[in-house]
Amino acid sequence: MTLITPPRLKLDRVTKTFGGVYALTELSLEVAPRQIVGLIGPNGAGKTTTFNVITGAYRATSGTVLLDAHAVTSEPSHRIARAGIMRTFQNIRLFSDMTVWEHLLVAQPHTGPFARRLLPMRFSNPHVIERAEEVLEFFGLGDVRNRLARSLPYGLQRKVEMARAVTARPKLLLLDEPVAGMNHDEAETIRTLMLRLREEGLSILLIEHDMAFVMNLCDQLYVLDFGVLIAQGRPDEIRTNPAVLDAYLGQAA
Ligand SMILES: Nc1ncnc2c1ncn2[C@@H]1O[C@H](COP(=O)(O)OP(=O)(O)OP(=O)(O)O)[C@@H](O)[C@H]1O
Ligand SMILES: [Mg+2]
Repeated sequence: MTLITPPRLKLDRVTKTFGGVYALTELSLEVAPRQIVGLIGPNGAGKTTTFNVITGAYRATSGTVLLDAHAVTSEPSHRIARAGIMRTFQNIRLFSDMTVWEHLLVAQPHTGPFARRLLPMRFSNPHVIERAEEVLEFFGLGDVRNRLARSLPYGLQRKVEMARAVTARPKLLLLDEPVAGMNHDEAETIRTLMLRLREEGLSILLIEHDMAFVMNLCDQLYVLDFGVLIAQGRPDEIRTNPAVLDAYLGQAA
């Protein structure tokens, strides 16, 4: 029995170095179930590196990453994905020869001993098709289902990436600059979709430079500067935090 629900995601003093360069220094961070948390900071602050460590793309130099209180720190990335962490990429990564619809079919987890070799069968599996339809409708991508994903406008490509990540029913979604390059209306649509996903039980950690978007969406913010956590708190606290204004928001001011 647990009296207190563990955080969905917990980073405990995670450090990542490249050669002698500290990209992350003892970063501790938590995302509670059904929480939307923002990770912000100037260019090169270590935000994407944080995602790469969480997903197993990079191995932490030291420290621990826990999903629902289970350490995933030294797991390979496919295991971490299967455990329930899905992500999108700062530089969109879609297959050049696949339609939107096909992206949603191949995004679904393999099941059964021969699943890996039976990719074409997934295209006729009713459960897989039903799930893809559901996600397609949720993201409002029905009109472009048969278009090659890479031929779509930038904002729609980002949406396809998010849809693909959601298709596998993750517990935690990591979004690396989800509204970069989107206009206000497109970003507003994404914000609404994120809130609906949260209501369904998803936890979200997102990186974003668009301050208005972050401030309107996130329950908690973590601010990185040169790989060091310089502040954490609610958006209204972060907005007036002197260290943050100095390191980050001050740049624009
Ligand atoms: N594979 C790598 N090899 C060497 N250095 C790296 C590698 N990945 C990241 N870094 C370095 O780590 C630091 C943090 O980079 P990171 O991409 O995490 O920043 P970021 O906060 O996502 O920045 P941006 O807002 O520009 O996307 C930078 O100094 C970067 O050059
Ligand atoms: Mg980045």
